[in-house]
Amino acid sequence: MIFDKKLIPKNVQEYNELYNYSITKPESFWSEVAESFIWKKKWSKVLKYDFNKPKFEWFCNGKLNITENCLDRHVKNNPEKTAIIFEPNKPDDQTVHISYKELHAKVCSFANVLKNNNVKKGDRVCIYLPMVPELAVAVLACARIGAVHSVVFAGFSSTALAARINDASCKMVLTSDGSFRGNKTIDLKSIVDEALNDCDCVDSVIVLNIINSGITLKNNEKWWHEELNNVNDDCRAEIMDSEDPLFILYTSGSTGKPKGMVHSCGGYMVYSSYTFKNVFDYEDDDIYWCTADIGWITGHSYIVYGPLLNGATTLMFEGVPSYPDFGRFWQICEKHKVNQFYTAPTAIRALAKHPVQLVNKYDLSSLKVLGTVGEPINEEAWDWYNENVGKAKCPIVDTWWQTETGGIMITSLANVTDGKPTFATKPMMGIQPVLFDENAKELDDNNKNGILGIKYPWPSIARTIYGDHKRYKNVYFSAYPGYYFPGDGAFRDDEGNYRITGRVDDVVIVSGHNLGTAPIEDAINMHDNVVESALVGFPHDVKGNALYAFVILKDDNTSNDIVKEINDLIAKTIGPIAKPDKIQVVSGLPKTRSGKIMRRILRKIASGEKEKFGDISTLLNPEVVKSILDGKI
Ligand code: WT7
Repeated sequence: MIFDKKLIPKNVQEYNELYNYSITKPESFWSEVAESFIWKKKWSKVLKYDFNKPKFEWFCNGKLNITENCLDRHVKNNPEKTAIIFEPNKPDDQTVHISYKELHAKVCSFANVLKNNNVKKGDRVCIYLPMVPELAVAVLACARIGAVHSVVFAGFSSTALAARINDASCKMVLTSDGSFRGNKTIDLKSIVDEALNDCDCVDSVIVLNIINSGITLKNNEKWWHEELNNVNDDCRAEIMDSEDPLFILYTSGSTGKPKGMVHSCGGYMVYSSYTFKNVFDYEDDDIYWCTADIGWITGHSYIVYGPLLNGATTLMFEGVPSYPDFGRFWQICEKHKVNQFYTAPTAIRALAKHPVQLVNKYDLSSLKVLGTVGEPINEEAWDWYNENVGKAKCPIVDTWWQTETGGIMITSLANVTDGKPTFATKPMMGIQPVLFDENAKELDDNNKNGILGIKYPWPSIARTIYGDHKRYKNVYFSAYPGYYFPGDGAFRDDEGNYRITGRVDDVVIVSGHNLGTAPIEDAINMHDNVVESALVGFPHDVKGNALYAFVILKDDNTSNDIVKEINDLIAKTIGPIAKPDKIQVVSGLPKTRSGKIMRRILRKIASGEKEKFGDISTLLNPEVVKSILDGKI
């Protein structure tokens, strides 16, 4: 274990004590945690911050390289230990075990490939790859040389990819000839080709051969395996300042442009690893599996960095939960004797729709801890997970956090604090949540609903939005000055447990994916026949929320295929995950006198409400509500 025992609570009382210490003396607390790592030079001050700028600096003037903490130190102590287990898409294909020593060599070799291709400290590298070990290698290779990785989930469309490449002016793109997903292969390379038509910043592309598609590469493109022939596996770790950027990761917001959240080296290292150890109660020989994709923050913090910093064995799965059947997750748990299993409520709900025999036929006795992330988990899904997967003996950690927070913020700690169905429960050490009432005053009482805020900085808070610090300030620090505003509502019970009630802005969480409504509306509005559109979320029993689009057409009669055309447009500009479940053509949208669409009313209509719309007399066009209701699908 990399942490001193006194930093790891073993029971509720120790949690309470440590939590108290962490919030009364945050600087001493975090400096003790940070002592657990290898620093090239120790920090001179633990924290400097200013909520007005806003500016947060942790472990000031400390020097480090995160990959030395992920790799070199474990190679020294335990070189043969498996770092990554790779489980391929097809169950019959070969599983791969990569030891710490091998992973270190792969990362150093690929870091040398990056250098040979003129990538330098501070340059941005876009990584658009499926869930294969080379994705983790690429991320770490960037970190090794101080290049800033920007992983784009390989389900995003070419337009979305191009926007992200351009926003960060990435100089290189790492991708593959294709990917395997269930019984399909996906042609990733042509998506990249299309994106690159619009990206002048990119000098070179390195292509991993996964599916043997036999494509020919262009002049500025090189094969991954051929590049590896030109290098050795010796690569010095670049010395980074604590506050140097480690990576950019895009998340949606309530305007069209995605936000490139920037995370820094020192604070992110300390927080992602410390939370991993505490939340999942990871012990030295455990096999840990998080089913997320590395394209999301969950994969960054809890497939790659958190586990590797702890010297853990982390499983990477290339495929999907439904292939070859809906028992695949459990087959993998049995095969690799998984001890900690971390997934999303939407996956649990989808799996719970299938015969429980698909769970029961596998031996799940290795499981010790279950986790969920991404959206609130409903009681039914929680019960199903607890009974059928955990056999009522595994604690379930419901972990609330965000791309912006870098690590888990509110959660129970496995085998230490109690879980409570539908509650994320208690703050992590060092985290000070508050609830605000409608007057933006902190609520002191319990048993209240409010807007969630975080009172004090923590080490892995995103430092800025790439290229747009003003927007960073506006979105997260303006609504409640002196606090971080995550955009969620919450309820606090008598014992101080938090239940996250959902977004309070125009972001909808569909199947655990954070989707801003604005960019999808922008995509719909690109259709020649669309005048205006409004998109809202409505409850869905598998996805948590689904999208409902209301569109006004120029000419109602021109196209019968409007629904298909809109869906195609969305898939092309954003990706298939953003397609609405329902698209209704309407004659008008409910608007305030200042012309703002009243989404509150549309949300109610979409979720099946027929009467209770509150006062609609202030609308510019109250009659439109009835006409939308009449045409509801
Ligand atoms: C939003 C952040 C954190 C990685 C995955 C999503 C929602 C996340 C929970 C949870 C209720 C949750 C929130 C949050 N959310 N976890 N355990 N209970 N809601 O990251 O894409 O940045 O989305 O996901 O609404 O703000 P993200």
